[in-house]
Amino acid sequence: MKRFIPLFVVAIAAAVGAFASHGSGDMAKDGEAYFNGFGCERCHTINGKGGDYGPDLTYVGFRKSKEWLDLWLKDPHGWKSNTVMPNLHLSDEVRASLVAYLSNLKGDSYRLSTPWNHASVKDNSAKRGEMLFNKAGCVGCHGRAGVGGNPNNNVAGNKIPTLTLVADGYSREELITKIRVGVPKSLKEDPSGPDPMIHMPAWGTVLKDDELESLADYLISLKPKASGGAATKDEW
Ligand code: HEC
Ligand code: HEC
Repeated sequence: MKRFIPLFVVAIAAAVGAFASHGSGDMAKDGEAYFNGFGCERCHTINGKGGDYGPDLTYVGFRKSKEWLDLWLKDPHGWKSNTVMPNLHLSDEVRASLVAYLSNLKGDSYRLSTPWNHASVKDNSAKRGEMLFNKAGCVGCHGRAGVGGNPNNNVAGNKIPTLTLVADGYSREELITKIRVGVPKSLKEDPSGPDPMIHMPAWGTVLKDDELESLADYLISLKPKASGGAATKDEW
């Protein structure tokens, strides 16, 4: 997969000229066309359609600010040096349209048809929580299976926390509350420095109680077992 990327990115860059000059006047609508035109959907799923090489973006406008989305699309490696998300060298106009489109995505379609209530996972709370973790996009900040490693600015360690050991510090109830209310402002490392760009969202505004409970059950299940742990799954 990795070796195949540069090829298809080049092909996309060549094909995209066709889109670049035809604005419809509706930025979010243009953004949707660009999303498909630039091949974003080969790596990202929205509303159940697309690839899984990168995080599902169905809730991305709920969890990430416009400012961060713009920064990320402008220079992914500037924010996370080892990311495999390519820099597609988007023009300002294309980037602004993509940000308008993405910031509208707040999970509406998944709330109408919830994949985590499918019969295959419905009766297994931790499995259901794993699906939610990936589809609601916890994975976009906390990494695959909660292993962490993603950057934040002006917080201790400059990282978003790892979640594999939360079972040691939180009861199930405390975890549910944490996920429900989030952390609107993380403690700044340098009090006179800028606000951190990433914050833990208040998921209680878009997820139901039984969904928060499944997420907590999944996080508790991440604690490594004596035999080696569960945090190696290769999926978003
Ligand atoms: C936009 C990025 C982002 C997303 C998405 C996100 N988180 Fe967080 N999360 C954070 C940040 C930042 C913190 C640290 C907050 C602080 O300063 O204490 C955090 C903290 C946490 C903590 C507390 C960890 C600890 O060690 O105290 C838990 C538990 C947690 N998140 C679970 C989740 C779950 C479950 C989801 C998905 C429903 C999720 N997070 C989605 C950014 C995010
Ligand atoms: C080759 C696959 C690939 C392509 C093409 C790609 N991305 Fe990504 N993208 C990723 C990966 C992988 C990540 C996760 C980054 C990380 O954590 O290292 C990501 C992350 C993101 C994020 C942040 C997600 C989150 O949860 O916070 C956004 C937004 C995004 N991409 C948008 C786009 C857009 C818009 C395009 C098209 C212009 C695009 N991506 C094209 C692979 C891709």
